[in-house]
Amino acid sequence: MWWFFEKFPILVFLSLDLRVAEQIKEVEDPICTVDHPVLAREVGQQEAAAQEDVGVEANKCIKIFLVTSKEEVGVEDSFRIVPIDLSQFFDEDGQVFGYKNLKINVFLSTISFHAYADITFESSCDGEKGIANLKSALQKIFGESLVKEKDDFLKTFSAGTDYIRNVISNGVVLRHEVTKGENNKSNKQLEAESFTVEVIRMAVNSMSVGKLYCRLVPLVLLLVDDISPIDVTDPGWEIYLAVESKSNDHGVVGIKLLGFAAVYRFHDNTGNLRLRISQILVLPSYQGQGHGRLLLEVINSVALSENVYDVTVEKPSDYFQHVRTCFDMHRLLDFEPIKHDISSAALHLNQGNLSKKPFKLLSDPPATAVEDVRRSLKINKKQFLQCWEILIYLELNHSDSQCMENYRTLIKDGRREGILGKDTGSGGKQITEVPNDYDHEMTSVAVCPNVNVDNMSAEVEGNQDTLEEQLRQLVDKRMKEIMEIAKTILLNRQ
Ligand SMILES: *[C@@H]1O[C@H](CO)[C@@H](O)[C@H](O)[C@H]1NC(C)=O
Ligand SMILES: *[C@@H]1O[C@H](CO)[C@@H](O)[C@H](O)[C@H]1NC(C)=O
Ligand SMILES: *[C@@H]1O[C@H](CO)[C@@H](O)[C@H](O)[C@H]1NC(C)=O
Ligand SMILES: *[C@@H]1O[C@H](CO)[C@@H](O)[C@H](O)[C@H]1NC(C)=O
Repeated sequence: MWWFFEKFPILVFLSLDLRVAEQIKEVEDPICTVDHPVLAREVGQQEAAAQEDVGVEANKCIKIFLVTSKEEVGVEDSFRIVPIDLSQFFDEDGQVFGYKNLKINVFLSTISFHAYADITFESSCDGEKGIANLKSALQKIFGESLVKEKDDFLKTFSAGTDYIRNVISNGVVLRHEVTKGENNKSNKQLEAESFTVEVIRMAVNSMSVGKLYCRLVPLVLLLVDDISPIDVTDPGWEIYLAVESKSNDHGVVGIKLLGFAAVYRFHDNTGNLRLRISQILVLPSYQGQGHGRLLLEVINSVALSENVYDVTVEKPSDYFQHVRTCFDMHRLLDFEPIKHDISSAALHLNQGNLSKKPFKLLSDPPATAVEDVRRSLKINKKQFLQCWEILIYLELNHSDSQCMENYRTLIKDGRREGILGKDTGSGGKQITEVPNDYDHEMTSVAVCPNVNVDNMSAEVEGNQDTLEEQLRQLVDKRMKEIMEIAKTILLNRQ
């Protein structure tokens, strides 16, 4: 996926957007071409006597902090993010070799999204495994946003004050909400302050937006498993930015980025216009405040107003899938045309001992319901089937053990089909982002999270027990999910 970083600098220098570039010019000198001073020194410090070097885990020696002001740089109690496995950015077994007491503190500014790495170690030693190339590893994560000198990094806080504001100035405001009372920390000031949250849409293939996206990529890489950066030159990509602006009597005094979603707008091979949510991220400091859901809501209202074919999500994380399902569930529960279908599907399960009959056939949503839901709510079939299970669950008599057993059989049959059925053959059908590949297919949401279908198919011949056991675990996990979502839904709808 690194073609992205290699490619983008070229674009930067070909068609520079001067307005933004001027703002941040002083700090724009990336370390790409210059040796890091600390790293340059390491050669001189190599110890002659090579002891056995056991290395250190990347996640143990690297700490990453999100900072909003220069005062927080270098302070270890700043807001710390817990990244996914960092070892993937290092070559040898993911261990960092060659240093004694290595400590890397990375400070990532949420003002301009530049980063600075504070690297310290007692000594370095070129043992059997050599000396890890820290520069290249950090470069893989932070790309161009990495600032070499601390002083330059500190300057980004004042120089970048209006960075987000300038980038979004040409954007389309899709949602504007006044948030009251939530941010009363700053109410100590006498002046009346108000906060609004806006969602702004922009095409990624403009210089300033592409550049912003590039600075957000490190966060995506650090926080989202298994993700590839998007092709910023492809005109199909749009970014939805959730920002909070603070105003007082003098107008807007500050804008901060809360989160974003990258959405691909494309025509599939039958000519239908579709939207695919490819990445959605709320900055860790602002998570749990409904911003992810807000982004989802706005994208969905765009899908409705433009009457696209449907909205899909590429490799949703478990958490995002939860938010998404809750959001869709509310819409489905209010959707009159399918009410009868839900009741009649549930009726089969509520009626006595049917454990030998094919529930799947009795309980699947009718094709007309699938089509109605897609047309009116833009929910694709795969997601609808996930929701359908929960819609049925909500209709059941939960204290009737036979009925619940029937329901479990239904869930199990669904998973079994996912593992063993004809779907297995399509296991290789994955979206891969390749340069200049404009032919984006509809993304499939994995039927069985955490279970490698190929792996299970390989095992099925040899070990039926293992398969049954894995299936059981899968069903347990799904039942738990369903109950959690059902609980959330019931609480919110009372
Ligand atoms: C801040 O807001 C919360 C909830 O909105 C409220 O419970 C709390 O009392 C407020 N604090 C102040 C100092 O106004
Ligand atoms: C339902 O049928 C299954 C299989 O025939 C049987 O094992 C189970 O005991 C039955 N349950 C009841 C409540 O009759
Ligand atoms: C739910 O099932 C229980 C146990 O079978 C039964 O006693 C109860 O009447 C049922 N409730 C409804 C509303 O059908
Ligand atoms: C399946 O995956 C498990 C763990 O992920 C691994 O231990 C096992 O060897 C794999 N089996 C096959 C047949 O690939």
